[in-house]
Amino acid sequence: MPWKKVCSLNELEQNQIMEFDVDGTPVAVVRGDNQTVVIPPMCPHLEEPLCQGICDGQTLTCHKHLWQWNLKTGEPLGLAQKPLKRYDSKVEGELLFALIDQEILYDYE
Ligand code: FES
Repeated sequence: MPWKKVCSLNELEQNQIMEFDVDGTPVAVVRGDNQTVVIPPMCPHLEEPLCQGICDGQTLTCHKHLWQWNLKTGEPLGLAQKPLKRYDSKVEGELLFALIDQEILYDYE
């Protein structure tokens, strides 16, 4: 499975969350403190766009019902009841790459 280029780190400010399309797969990129993660763009709770959320560098918060996650581990914090899934990613120079063979989806009940 090849690494796919997601974006250049220059495209994001610190603590910014942006959506990108990687060969037809929508992803969100969160640039936190010394870490940039590639995640599915929709909240695992009720499918709200996470790019409208808030990142403080360590934690990602969904704007809708304030579910929160540890950005580094994806672990749920506070009210959140599901972990944040992430794509494997790496940075080379200023470019961010991710392993995206199929879209990560949540089970919405
Ligand atoms: S939709 Fe994100 S916390 Fe509810």
